[in-house]
This record gives sequence, structure tokens and C-alpha cells, in this order.
Amino acid sequence: MSLVIEKAGPQDRTRIFELLEQANMHHIPSPEMPEVSWENYFVARVDDQVVGFCGFKILSETEAKTELMAVDSSCRGLGVGYKLQQHRMEVMHSRGIRKLTTNTDLPATIAFYKKHFGYREVGKLDKIHEFSDPAINEWTTLEVDLVAWHEAMKRQK
Ligand SMILES: CC(C)(COP(=O)(O)OP(=O)(O)OC[C@H]1O[C@@H](n2cnc3c(N)ncnc32)[C@H](O)[C@@H]1OP(=O)(O)O)[C@@H](O)C(=O)NCCC(=O)NCCS
Repeated sequence: MSLVIEKAGPQDRTRIFELLEQANMHHIPSPEMPEVSWENYFVARVDDQVVGFCGFKILSETEAKTELMAVDSSCRGLGVGYKLQQHRMEVMHSRGIRKLTTNTDLPATIAFYKKHFGYREVGKLDKIHEFSDPAINEWTTLEVDLVAWHEAMKRQK
């Protein structure tokens, strides 16, 4: 599989919304997600087909939050999400971001962030309305120190 991660362009937005719909995250604009910031979005392409995307939003000189990520349901478990997440963390680290926050709901996704990227759980947040899994009513807030993560990555190489 030849996978390329690159910056998303306006031409990718329709496909990104298809992927969001698969994950029941297409309720935008809404109180949960008033808008997509688009500034820092990346797509994963296989043979020119977008199979996943992710984004982030800068909050201050040293803080950022992840903003949406989804991989096509037929392409999950192949490492696409891992590469997207690793890419956005690298980009944020290179821009001087240290504290990264992620709100997510699915237990498998929470486990994915903790196991592979050094996140720890810091709190819970009630959902305002349905978004992602309709059976889960709260977000789990996760945090990672990108400087510590980057050092650990270097030691692994
Ligand atoms: C969360 C999500 C983005 C992960 O994407 P993904 O492409 O399936 O993730 P990966 O394949 O990189 O990792 C999933 C598993 O596959 C494994 N994997 C990695 N590379 C692999 C490869 N080449 N072949 C097989 N498996 C692989 C990973 O180790 C991981 O396993 P583990 O966590 O059980 O150890 C995807 O499941 C998704 O879209 N979920 C719904 C929306 C969502 O929750 N988004 C996050 C919002 S915060």
C-alpha cells in the first residue's frame, strides 16, 4: 500500500465530509462543532483516493487541540490512522506546541491514543448532542506532552 500524507485542499472537502458521515461526525455546523477550521488539515491518499484525514487547531503558542480524524471503514486497522496521527503530532511539535488535547468517545480510539501516542486521561465532558457514537454521552479528554512524546520517539529509533 503506497500511502501519502499531505495537506488537504478545498477539493478534498466533499470526500472529508463522506468520511465524517461514516463516523457520525458530520453534524457541522452544530453546538458540538461550530465549524471546521481547515487551516491545518491533512489527508491520507492511496492511489489518489482519500482514505482518511485529520486536523488540528492551534490554541496558543504552546497549546493545540486535535480536530477530527476518520479513516474509511474499509481501510481501518492498516496503519492509516497511526500515520495521520503521527504526522499531525510531528507538525505541531515542529511549530513549538507542547500541550496537545484530544476529546474522543470510542473506547477503542481512547485505547489507540494511549497505547501508541503517550496520551493520559485528564477528564470527562458531557456531549451537548449526538456526535460520533450515539450510545456514548460524554467525551473523554486526553492530553499528551509533545516534547516528551518526541523524545520517546527518538529513543525508539
Ligand atoms: C481511530 C481511527 C482514526 C484509527 O484509524 P486506523 O487506520 O484504523 O488505525 P491504525 O490502523 O493506524 O491502528 C489501528 C490498529 O491497527 C494496527 N496497525 C497499525 N499498522 C498496521 C498494519 N500495517 N497492518 C495491520 N494493523 C496495523 C495498530 O497497531 C492498531 O492496533 P492496536 O491499537 O490494536 O494495537 C479509526 O478507527 C476511525 O476512523 N475511527 C472512527 C472515528 C474516530 O474515532 N476518530 C477519532 C476521533 S478523536
